[in-house]
Amino acid sequence: MPTIERDRIVADLLAHYDIHRRVLPWRALPGETPDPYRVWLSEIMLQQTTVATVGPYFRAFTERWPTVEALAAADQDEVMHAWQGLGYYSRARNLLKCAKTVVAEHGGRFPETEAGLLELPGIGPYTAAAIAAIAFDRPAMPVDGNIERVTARLFAIEAEMPGSKPELRRLAATLTPERRPGDFAQALMDLGATICTPKSPACTRCPLGPHCEAAAKGIAAQLPRRAPKKAKPTRHAVFFWLVRDDGAVLFQRRPDEGLLGGMVMPPSTPWREEGPWDEGEALSHVPAHTEWRELNGTVRHGFTHFHFDMTVWTGQAVGGGPDGVWARPDEFGALALPTVAKKLCRHALDGGTLL
Ligand code: ADE
Ligand code: SF4
Repeated sequence: MPTIERDRIVADLLAHYDIHRRVLPWRALPGETPDPYRVWLSEIMLQQTTVATVGPYFRAFTERWPTVEALAAADQDEVMHAWQGLGYYSRARNLLKCAKTVVAEHGGRFPETEAGLLELPGIGPYTAAAIAAIAFDRPAMPVDGNIERVTARLFAIEAEMPGSKPELRRLAATLTPERRPGDFAQALMDLGATICTPKSPACTRCPLGPHCEAAAKGIAAQLPRRAPKKAKPTRHAVFFWLVRDDGAVLFQRRPDEGLLGGMVMPPSTPWREEGPWDEGEALSHVPAHTEWRELNGTVRHGFTHFHFDMTVWTGQAVGGGPDGVWARPDEFGALALPTVAKKLCRHALDGGTLL
């Protein structure tokens, strides 16, 4: 694509952005200087999570911890608790690590370059580019799903995702302007979210319409092409709902690394793909020896890479019961419970589906 065409793309999109830019809780208003702390926090929250979901969390975090210093001084459990429902809990742990590093090693100021940002915990190439561009107006191109889609269409790239990602990243980077790179990246994100949408791009009111090869060929809605998705596997587990005389229920904290790291869940069998557990198999994983009763029904939860089918056995603890995190239902709100655990709790407290 010739330079002059690129310059027009940049000018046309920025002109559109100046009129139609979305107002987002973390986005500086026109003429305001962005706050790197807010930019960083929003980009971490927006990884794998939608703008609509992030809004209330972003407001709650910035009210409670208005600066990176305030967040660095927070307690890990409090942060994990406030993060509940955003998923990918390793992000919350890295969030705190990153805040502490910025305060201890950088005097509370985020590095301004992609290379400097990449050194921080939890910041990968995408997030480093997003912060460099949006917070510091450095020429950088944070290529998220929206920008991938717009780029694939603008250049009519027919190769399949995800194999075409490096090519899309390279092409998107060639668009990065010297002036207003932060606004340009956000303008591309907005375009992808509002006009160049996945299923029905509104090419007739798109500021890039005159420059867009996919629109010219009439194939916009088909791009980017994707290899057919593999079906997600299903994992199965039995959860043990062990209740003490005082009404407290047993939970166990999961290891810091891995899925739901650092969160609490009731004890369970291993999570396996080989099919549901039969009674004899599950019995060898019980957390305590008591009389167990299986609740009717199955709890289902969708993780990114697998479906999860859970059944629940309930039992009464004898004496104090085994070690772990014990909480009464009125105390569940204070636990770092992931969404999947909340579903389980509701099912167990309702006594299964038939009651
Ligand atoms: N998605 C990821 N980062 C974003 C941002 N800064 N604005 C809008 N959507 C986004
Ligand atoms: Fe997307 Fe259509 Fe605009 Fe091309 S013209 S960028 S396909 S909305």
